[in-house]
Amino acid sequence: MSHLIAPSMLAADFANLQKECEMINNSEADWFHLDVMDGVFVPNISFGIPVIKHINEHTLKPLDVHLMIVQPERYITHFKEVGANILTVHIEASPHLHRTLQAIKDEGMKAGVALNPHTNVEQLMPIIEEVDLVCLMSVNPGFGGQKFIEGTYRKVEKLKEMIIKANVDTKIEIDGGVTSANAKDLVDCGADVLVAGSFVFKADNPIQTIKDLKHL
Ligand code: DX5
Ligand code: ZN
Repeated sequence: MSHLIAPSMLAADFANLQKECEMINNSEADWFHLDVMDGVFVPNISFGIPVIKHINEHTLKPLDVHLMIVQPERYITHFKEVGANILTVHIEASPHLHRTLQAIKDEGMKAGVALNPHTNVEQLMPIIEEVDLVCLMSVNPGFGGQKFIEGTYRKVEKLKEMIIKANVDTKIEIDGGVTSANAKDLVDCGADVLVAGSFVFKADNPIQTIKDLKHL
């Protein structure tokens, strides 16, 4: 399978969300990446359930919802109701991760786990069979437009080894600072999904930029 591109709407023009959604619909992007921040788990507040509901009314592609919030298990049903297809929680915010992943899958969504840059991928070893998607943060979560952390490559390789060894179909997603300067190396290391916010939405030609990321 060739890798997937998931533009992050965090970098979109929030006053023109419908237009931005249509641009993604008309592009080679595979998913919409939606960053939910609560001002507690991360030092920023983005958007939440009602905004995702409206985005869903204008999308034709799967919604990949990244929860940067404490107690994410409280909102699983709400995100399902507004159209989430993939729901990702942070390992650092989930003391009962196994139960939370089961609850996400019971709602018929794919279950993702996000890891902050300092979190070892080995922490996923006991639970990797339960995880549909691992989101490796390649910046500290909370803001778009930050610089890519180079140590991510090694984490991708280690995680890929773990996935192959366990003989599972878990996808690896990279989130933060993705550009054409690192995209190919990331895919070569084993990344399956590239999230890109600023690099897409601040480009002169976002549709072409998405195409370039898709055809590395
Ligand atoms: C960061 C978010 C990312 C962010 C990526 O906390 O999880 O999805 O929007 O933005 P860029 O691509 O600008 O780093
Ligand atoms: Zn994200």
